[in-house]
Amino acid sequence: MVREKDGRIKIGRVMCLECGHCVALCPEGAIVVDEGPDFAEATSGKPEEGSATGPPPVSPEAFRELVRQRRSVRQYEARPVPRELLEQMLDNGRWAPTAANCQCQAFTVLTDPARRDWLSAQVVEFYRAYQEALQDREHAAERLAALGLEAGFALHPHMRVAVPSFLKNTDAGRDRLFFAAPAVIIVHADEGEVLPASAAAFATLTLALSAETLGLGTCITAYASEALRARPDLRAALEVPETHQVHYVLTVGYPAEHWQQVPPRRAAQVRWWE
Ligand SMILES: Cc1cc2nc3c(=O)[nH]c(=O)nc-3n(C[C@H](O)[C@H](O)[C@H](O)COP(=O)(O)O)c2cc1C
Repeated sequence: MVREKDGRIKIGRVMCLECGHCVALCPEGAIVVDEGPDFAEATSGKPEEGSATGPPPVSPEAFRELVRQRRSVRQYEARPVPRELLEQMLDNGRWAPTAANCQCQAFTVLTDPARRDWLSAQVVEFYRAYQEALQDREHAAERLAALGLEAGFALHPHMRVAVPSFLKNTDAGRDRLFFAAPAVIIVHADEGEVLPASAAAFATLTLALSAETLGLGTCITAYASEALRARPDLRAALEVPETHQVHYVLTVGYPAEHWQQVPPRRAAQVRWWE
């Protein structure tokens, strides 16, 4: 992409992904990214002394603790999350890796309890229809498909057990969808981009880890994302752009649960093919 010709450095525009590697590497800070107003905070100019060459800003020990201590939070304090903290999380989400540097992840944020509850009611209604379809054994597959649900998700043994329990809890007044979280972030991406689902996934994880550093907790909720994926009318009501699909929904708030220890995990499934 970057080559020298006739004593001049040339950057090939056709294959350039605008990933900014050249900016990051140039020791003179000679490469300036100027992509107009869409590119907020374009990095340019000479890096501060030591900033590009120093040790990584997070120690291996700190990172290990961060990933081990992050838990899905399903009980939140009622107090709202300051907007600045949500903004910090969302800003960090911009730096997640994306295929062909598409940066196609986009976020819709709900902080108004009335709007959250409206969406919650829509999602619950969707799963009541799911439950009814499932009970119609003869036509379950077609009815679930008509609801827009993918069979792999809708017919998974886990979902067959989880959805009735989810509805039972809802009927008992327990919020098993958003856990009464003060903020809900819907992560969507333009379907026309390269591997948009992966952009949304990595951005979601970045948001979740970022939240942890800010003293916040998160939980990914597939109930909401799958309902939104299946229902274009809901996406439209939330003003998610028509070309976007929803991939993840993240609840955010101050945790009202306090972990005593790190739970075990299975051993890494690794095969060294050498
Ligand atoms: C794609 C995805 C969907 C999830 N959906 C739900 C959900 O609908 N409800 C829920 O309570 N947790 C959900 N979770 C959270 C998982 O249950 C949780 O990550 C897992 O049990 C491991 O626990 P930990 O996140 O505390 O480490 C989801 C996680 C992922 C990655």
